[in-house]
Amino acid sequence: MPELHIVILAAGKGTRMKSARPKVLHRVAGLPMIEHVLATAATLAPRSTTVVVGHEAAAVESALKGRAGLSFVVQEPQLGTAHALLTSEPVLRNEAGTLVLLSGDVPLLSAGTLMRLRERHDSTGAAATVVTARVENPYGYGRIVRSGEQIARIVEEKDATPAEREIREINSGIYAFALRGLFDAIRSVAAQNVQKEYYLTDLVEIFRKQGRAVETVVSNPDEIRGINSRRELAEVSRIVRQQKHVELMDAGVTIEDPDTAYIDRDVVIGPDTIIHPGVSIEGRTTIGSRCEIHSGVRIISSQIGDGVTILNHCVITEALIGDEARVGPFAHLRKDADLRAQARVGNFVELKKTVLGAGSKSMHLAYLGDAIIGEKVNIGAGTITCNYDGTVKNKTIIDDGAFIGSDTQLVAPVTIGAGAYVGSGTTVRENVPPKALAVSAGKQRNIEGWVDKKKQKKPDNTPVTR
Ligand code: UD1
Ligand code: CA
Repeated sequence: MPELHIVILAAGKGTRMKSARPKVLHRVAGLPMIEHVLATAATLAPRSTTVVVGHEAAAVESALKGRAGLSFVVQEPQLGTAHALLTSEPVLRNEAGTLVLLSGDVPLLSAGTLMRLRERHDSTGAAATVVTARVENPYGYGRIVRSGEQIARIVEEKDATPAEREIREINSGIYAFALRGLFDAIRSVAAQNVQKEYYLTDLVEIFRKQGRAVETVVSNPDEIRGINSRRELAEVSRIVRQQKHVELMDAGVTIEDPDTAYIDRDVVIGPDTIIHPGVSIEGRTTIGSRCEIHSGVRIISSQIGDGVTILNHCVITEALIGDEARVGPFAHLRKDADLRAQARVGNFVELKKTVLGAGSKSMHLAYLGDAIIGEKVNIGAGTITCNYDGTVKNKTIIDDGAFIGSDTQLVAPVTIGAGAYVGSGTTVRENVPPKALAVSAGKQRNIEGWVDKKKQKKPDNTPVTR
């Protein structure tokens, strides 16, 4: 097979998005749309991948930095798609073989279609092969004008005659080109059209006039949808979500209402897990099997074991949750919350950078930050780790089997020994030895008859009514 190079066009302003953010960085199912394109491109194992940037070039480059094997070329000003491809000439001038051109705003293209494009192109030896699709509503796309079976040219929506606008076969903006002679051909493109841009689509006619073959590959219309507006962004995102849901359901996950589940592309979920309506699972999250995730839960880049129950309205970010744990309703697990097997966290409990050991519980109204909590510990309602002294964050350590009574403040750094008890309402400022009882509240006094005496003192004790 001829050598393969990939160029991705991502320099355009994306005017129709009405956004300060470059179009290719808008997210589709949790990932910038260009990341979807790069992931598909990588399946061809190309010899090089070049991204053409221009509008907000620095933002696009920095969003993609850290990805191995990418080169960037800058197109400034942006004079159209042909001009964009020409800016990659310095990188590809001395290369031979096939160039596959992708568009940063067409994120759903499948690896299968890309493979078919390459095979078709390489086997026919054409100068160019265009991926097309037959669609219900071709509005906005370039139309494929054929003479007989052969593609004759591509005409843009804005330049098309009323008759041409009736054509339902559209240009996907994805092509394979023979590198030989390509850049010379692009130099002969003129900007003689309504938009005064250098159109890459003009190459079809140029090659045909040179007597070189141009081929087409017809794809499924959903995968070549381009994103030019917020509406299209929402539509394409919906398609990605639907695909993801189908994939998960086929693998044994119950999604009670696929219309209201939001599950990002890279999420992994095990069989027999049940996802209730209105759940959002984002980023690089993995969820084991036999879990149940109730409505209103949002999970971001977290690792969840098997048999875990997350009750309604929890927010879980970059946390770890062990097997058979139970969380919520209304719990907030922040970065580096680490619940071990069978741990339980209840309503209005917030954890940050805290290990909650196996079988330990914090069921009501607590803040646990920078703490290491052992196994089978009971954290009473209203327990607060006072982890911040205004300058630094300090650690609280609670050893196995300790019992922390309700309304306790643990002023860090502090350690509660194994099996110790802390009485309700205690402010713990010193370490508590294993098996000791810590109490700090003063002795309780009852003043008999206090209420009646207080009322007698008042000159007028008739209740105020409104
Ligand atoms: C383009 C095609 C159209 C096709 C459609 C498919 C042309 C002239 N038209 O139209 O036939 O149906 O894609 O989605 O090619 N870009 C640059 N530099 C530029 C201009 C654009 O890098 O100077 C990039 C954009 O960032 C985008 C891609 O090229 O990723 C396509 O540009 P866009 O303006 O969206 O073209 P369309 O009008 O959609
Ligand atoms: Ca487009």
